[in-house]
Amino acid sequence: MADLSPWVELGTVAAGAGGIGYAKARAPRAYWSLVGLPVTWGRFTWTYSSTMEVCGLTVQPSRFRAFVARNIARSEVRPVAPKVRRVSPTPTGLRVTLRLPAGLEPADIAASCERLRHAWGVRSVTVVETKPGFVELRMTGYDVLNRVRLPRRARPHDLVVPVALREDGSVFERDYRAVPMALTLGANQSGKSMYQRNLIKGLAQLPVGLIGIDCKRGVEQSRYAPRLSALVTTPEDAARLIDALVVEMEERFDLLALHGVSDLWELPEHLRPVPLVVLIDEIAELFMVISKKDEPARDRTVMQLVRLGQMARAIGIYLEVCGQRFGSDLGKGATALRAQLTGRVVHRVNDKASAEMGLGDISPEAVLAATSIAANRPGTAVAGDTSGGWSRIRTPEISPADAAAVCREFAHLTPDLPFLAPFRPVSQIVVPPMPAVPPRVKPRPVTE
Ligand SMILES: Nc1ncnc2c1ncn2[C@@H]1O[C@H](COP(=O)(O)OP(=O)(O)OP(=O)(O)O)[C@@H](O)[C@H]1O
Ligand SMILES: [Mg+2]
Repeated sequence: MADLSPWVELGTVAAGAGGIGYAKARAPRAYWSLVGLPVTWGRFTWTYSSTMEVCGLTVQPSRFRAFVARNIARSEVRPVAPKVRRVSPTPTGLRVTLRLPAGLEPADIAASCERLRHAWGVRSVTVVETKPGFVELRMTGYDVLNRVRLPRRARPHDLVVPVALREDGSVFERDYRAVPMALTLGANQSGKSMYQRNLIKGLAQLPVGLIGIDCKRGVEQSRYAPRLSALVTTPEDAARLIDALVVEMEERFDLLALHGVSDLWELPEHLRPVPLVVLIDEIAELFMVISKKDEPARDRTVMQLVRLGQMARAIGIYLEVCGQRFGSDLGKGATALRAQLTGRVVHRVNDKASAEMGLGDISPEAVLAATSIAANRPGTAVAGDTSGGWSRIRTPEISPADAAAVCREFAHLTPDLPFLAPFRPVSQIVVPPMPAVPPRVKPRPVTE
């Protein structure tokens, strides 16, 4: 009988190669851990010095060092690359901490990211300054934004909600105490509501009151009703709700004044009012007026919103605003309100002007990055903050049913706030059972 072992071996090798190819495409995380990480780590270790040298990321050695090399070690005097202090693998890539030699700054390394990425065959390299003199190179081994999954340890806590993944593999969190007010912009179908859905899913698990303003007749937010303390779906109701919030803000300030503190978090826990997050889906609806006679009412609502934006942080009311555009063309007060919204997340936009409305005050590169988001990647956005930093992020895809289920599960956390009673979502209003009415006609058996 013919010897079959070469064929068996060949088959095994082919199956192995096919399995690796399949894992690379379908399970990139597993592929990275098993194959990509050891290969990249090895390549990085063997080629580090030469790569830094050809990328121009070295400095001349000090005179003492050159003297030692020439006269004592009797070796060639070589330029000095940043010292590698730590290499740590992550489920999505590799992180390397470098100590910068005198003469190099983080911007020098950041300018060569593209070259380093190609040299080490990784998907992306970003540079973060961790402390003076130290930078971290964050490499990702594969396109982490292709199918987004947040790590299991990313859980909402202390008014911090993990909401998306950055392209360097780290988690993008919405921290309400650090950035109390935020604006999310994007064209139709760019993923704004998905961003809010992720936020609501996280916020629902925290001890906060959630207030929904969804002037698209509540199509998006009415699903979250079990966890909402208030929901309004028309601009008129929104105006009344915003007035009620301003009155609440004034009362909370009185409380702070009474206890001689300037911030809600300085109050003792038993006196502290519950923090409130106001989620506005499509801000433009609050600015629109059909006739001139409605303008004073609109101006008043916008002015009240600006007041909330200016002062409500101290008393724990936070604004989370969504819209397609947010320029001065929306109407009086638009730019004043926008200036109060520090956190900025811009999804795909139709024109550069819309990206500038969100990111223009942050950085020109962030504007460019937002205009180059592909239409077939909904949920991808550029997130910035006023410190000048920005990053590409993408939300995980969750279904409305998932978010609604979380809202139902945590419905018991919905605070009971009497001032919001008129705005309680319809599904929460308990209809008293009809009193039993005695039948007027005495029933007779049909057989008679
Ligand atoms: N992160 C994501 N991953 C995959 N698909 C997404 C993601 N985000 C959004 N989508 C999909 O893109 C589509 C539009 O999303 P979404 O409704 O959030 O957009 P939008 O900006 O709110 O649109 P509109 O302006 O019409 O309200 C939906 O079908 C949604 O499933
Ligand atoms: Mg939407």
